[in-house]
Amino acid sequence: MRVGFVGWRGMVGSVLMQRMREENDFAVIAEPVFFTTSNVGGKAPDIGRDVPPLKDAGDIDELKAMDVIVTCQGGDYTTEVYGKLRAAGWKGYWIDAASTLRMQEDSIIVLDPVNRELIDKGVANGVKDYIGGNCTNSIMLMGMNGLFREGLVDWVSSMTYQAASGGGANHMRELLKGMGAIHSTVADELATPSSAILEIDRKVAKAISEDVPTEYFGAPLAGGLIPWIDKQLDNGQSKEEWKGQAEVNKILGTSSVVPVDGLCVRIGAMRCHSLALTVKLKKDLPLSEIESIIKSGNDWVKWVPNDREISVKELTPAAITGGLEVGVGRVRKMNMGGEYLSAFVIGDQLLWGAAEPLRRMLRILIE
Ligand code: HSE
Repeated sequence: MRVGFVGWRGMVGSVLMQRMREENDFAVIAEPVFFTTSNVGGKAPDIGRDVPPLKDAGDIDELKAMDVIVTCQGGDYTTEVYGKLRAAGWKGYWIDAASTLRMQEDSIIVLDPVNRELIDKGVANGVKDYIGGNCTNSIMLMGMNGLFREGLVDWVSSMTYQAASGGGANHMRELLKGMGAIHSTVADELATPSSAILEIDRKVAKAISEDVPTEYFGAPLAGGLIPWIDKQLDNGQSKEEWKGQAEVNKILGTSSVVPVDGLCVRIGAMRCHSLALTVKLKKDLPLSEIESIIKSGNDWVKWVPNDREISVKELTPAAITGGLEVGVGRVRKMNMGGEYLSAFVIGDQLLWGAAEPLRRMLRILIE
């Protein structure tokens, strides 16, 4: 297979390349071809073997020669190129991290530990577009797959704590610059244990409203949070909140809709998205049974017992970042009744939330 890669240099693309190298994916690709929007003829990334110089990502004829195209170039590129490529008669597989084609009727949102059956059926039936899901949804489903698989979920309320990386590389930089701006206004006072905390707080509050950069997030994130992610819809939801129900049900291929709703909030974490869930179960099951069902969801579920000491150590961005494990903890019955379950799910936004499902989809097509 000739596999073209577009947008491999950006943040998600770089994580994809890193994971593909780690898993030796390039060894099974007959002809990897790297494309560029800015450096045609330049040197392709080091994948441990010779590959041709970079080709033009806007050249439909070059793209047409691929059996598979994997793109992390972003939604604008998909909008610009995908239609032209199909109109030119291209019948290859399109694997995309962007949301542009996610909700198209003939595309499949890929998360194979959860919907491998749907993917296999799609491949057998000639589906050509395989799109990565929204990061919060993918992480939620990786964590709670067992309960969905057993048909136990009546509805889910999902309150999210989303990391800066969901916005992009510039957003991560802006968060760090903001942290630095806050720290620098009170560095001297912090070095003096006797300095007055309310004076420090006053200076910090001033720095947050005046010095923390807001170019990318539109509001100060460092030292605070932003209770809105993505566009505003007419029904009062944010686009990010709308995606919850729409994408979760599409990924699961449900015949009757499982309601999913909640508030999506940006917090000052670097690349771990978390979700505080209220799950309404269809029946009142003992916690021990719920635990074993959640653990059986897939190989990446990291079950964290609902214990203070273990939770603050194991169920945090510090513990989860950079790895494929999806933490599931704080699982307990709520005051509302035996069918109401609380859970906290946390995963690396750039791995299961973005790059990992794409490289796994590519392997499914190749093998
Ligand atoms: N929309 C998500 C976020 C990232 O802003 O965190 C992409 O799935």
